[in-house]
Amino acid sequence: MKDLKTAKYLRAPEEYGSVCPAFRKQFRLEKPILRAVLTVTAIGLYEAELNGKRVGAFELAPGWTNYKKRLQVQEYDVSAMLKERNVLTLTLGEGWACGRIGWSAGQGGFFPRPAVIALLTLTFEDGTEETVPTDESWECGKTPILFSGIYDGETFDARVAPDFTDAPLIADYPKDIFIPQEGEEIREKGTVTAKKVFTTPKGETVLDFGQEFTGRLSITPHGKAGDVCRLVHFEVLDKDGNVYLENLRSAKQTVTYLCSGEEGETYHPHFSFQGFRFVKVESWPGEVKTEDFTGTVLCSDIRRTGTFLCSDPDVNRLYQNVIWGQLSNFVDVPTDCPQRDERLGWTGDAQVFCRTAALNFDVRKFFTKWLNDMASEQLPDGGIPAVIPDALHGNGRCSSGWADSATIVPWQMYQVYGDKSFLARQFDTMKGWVDYIRAQSDRETIWNTGHHYADWLALDHPTDQKGATDHGLIATAYFSYSVKLLVAAGQILGKDVSYYEELWYRIKRDFNETYRPNGQFVTPTQTAHALALHFGLVDDTKECAASLVRLIRENGTALNTGFLGTSVLMETLTENGYPDVAYDLLLRHEFPSWLFSVDMGATTIWEHWDGIRPDGGMWSAAMNSFNHYAYGAVASWMYSCAAGIRADENAPGFTHFYLNPIPDPRLSFVQATFETDSGTIASAWKTEGDEITFDFTVPEEKTATVILGTETFKVNPGTYRFVRKASDILAAR
Ligand code: BGC
Repeated sequence: MKDLKTAKYLRAPEEYGSVCPAFRKQFRLEKPILRAVLTVTAIGLYEAELNGKRVGAFELAPGWTNYKKRLQVQEYDVSAMLKERNVLTLTLGEGWACGRIGWSAGQGGFFPRPAVIALLTLTFEDGTEETVPTDESWECGKTPILFSGIYDGETFDARVAPDFTDAPLIADYPKDIFIPQEGEEIREKGTVTAKKVFTTPKGETVLDFGQEFTGRLSITPHGKAGDVCRLVHFEVLDKDGNVYLENLRSAKQTVTYLCSGEEGETYHPHFSFQGFRFVKVESWPGEVKTEDFTGTVLCSDIRRTGTFLCSDPDVNRLYQNVIWGQLSNFVDVPTDCPQRDERLGWTGDAQVFCRTAALNFDVRKFFTKWLNDMASEQLPDGGIPAVIPDALHGNGRCSSGWADSATIVPWQMYQVYGDKSFLARQFDTMKGWVDYIRAQSDRETIWNTGHHYADWLALDHPTDQKGATDHGLIATAYFSYSVKLLVAAGQILGKDVSYYEELWYRIKRDFNETYRPNGQFVTPTQTAHALALHFGLVDDTKECAASLVRLIRENGTALNTGFLGTSVLMETLTENGYPDVAYDLLLRHEFPSWLFSVDMGATTIWEHWDGIRPDGGMWSAAMNSFNHYAYGAVASWMYSCAAGIRADENAPGFTHFYLNPIPDPRLSFVQATFETDSGTIASAWKTEGDEITFDFTVPEEKTATVILGTETFKVNPGTYRFVRKASDILAAR
């Protein structure tokens, strides 16, 4: 990797405009080769080909990092691809680094023009070594990719063949930003076939893939040279069944392909991805047939580790929507959404969802990289940007509940995987963030200043999308939580955190005095109750929990919480003795609820509870994603409470855990698994008449405490079956 610095960044001549360039080097091997390694990266996105074959399987390489300081470098073993005469080609796109990112001027734009840098290292059988670095000796040519952008799609003219008659320009870009590949590679993660083609009332031709996902289409047109295929990707149909593009805002999500006319031609975009379920076919040679379109899912190469199934098909659909939400938004960075002109690493969304994410898939490498980016983006005063990588360049930074991602994400990774290095690497960032808040706060304990997204998109305020809960209340509650996690991390790492330990008690005291005088929250919302309970800020937990339940009942047994309140609501209810109310919320179909979206046909998690309203109308097009994972945090409750695979905070990595399923009479079975490094944890229950059967698996190297109704006992690795009276178990909930 060090040697890559001897190569030069290549870029296209100015007159190429939006056309993607390719750079080519031809070389001969004079003697037998032992090993060949291609080391490569780009400011922008690259695809490498050796002798006409694609190198590696990393899509959208080199991914998205804080390019100012960190650029991942990939190494590919290409020994088997070499011949006597060789052609190495590097195609370059704008990607996140140089393309349009963000919804307004001044966002994105990390570097003005893309550039690629590579070094081929050849080791011969005689022990000698030679290198082929990118430099002035390479050739440059225009490719058929006339335009490619993350948001806007791609235009490809298959009649164009690169002629490589130009000389590349050398870009003077930094090389001290190189880091080895840290995250997962983005890969093709399966296909989604087109389910049907239909005509809308307005006469538009539309393909329906039956599932929203993130990726791209592979197409097989049967046209003449120059025939145009134009495809616009979108999420939902409007009330009347017509194409709805408004919520994409300025993102065009349009792929245009001009046919070569050759038999059997196929194509997929190279440097763009789309978030979609439907495709409007604006132009196509001949009849539109489903078999000529295949969707390919693009996602970081995360491995599935969690499963959940129960007797209610709608809950199962909801769970699948959570999984699809994660697959759609784990494209190298944990993003808010994959379709509109945003797709950014919003810290708040990531913190509310990270635990669920870690149960669903192995996200260790994924979050290692993102957290390292966060650390590299931390401001001198300890502040944390709203999005990582910071495409907003400081705008919206330091909101509570968002920037607290700095403490929460490492803590959750440590909890789920038992890997202390998350805490060790992030400790300084955690501390910097807590110290930032201390400096903003009144009396060092009450954070009542600054800008906050608050309980984003809560329904408890008629007009304010930040919800009705006092911002200082939320900020101070999260402050306490960040301090608590800093203390816990410090103790695990053997650091002196006594000052912060004491600080926590002062925050708790002042929180109650300021935001809960006389035992009443200044804004008595569901979210205020849930956060205070969940973060351990109230002593009279019984009264507080009862008051939370009263609010839910008074609201027609419905939640009205936003991003922050919702993420802790279900667990808070269950921990405080109200699993039945949590089930009421889970199983509710009327608006607002999770299953309302399922009934309305959702195949991913919506950004808004009322993305589509009960009357079929849309929430404002200004901000209405149908693929936002935040409310998908409910899946963590499904694993830990409905199925009862519950972590023990004191034994991270499930070294010891609880098997504590909480059945509900409205379900007849629940089963879940979670794959740890030493084997799979399984928990299942099913009822037949008044009999309830529990089946558990405790993998090697783990122990568990089984809690069934009023019984508690310890178990070692093995499989277990317990049969009990359902009425006893339900009575003990
Ligand atoms: C994003 C959110 C994000 C929020 C900040 C939105 O535009 O899509 O998910 O957390 O802004 O409040």
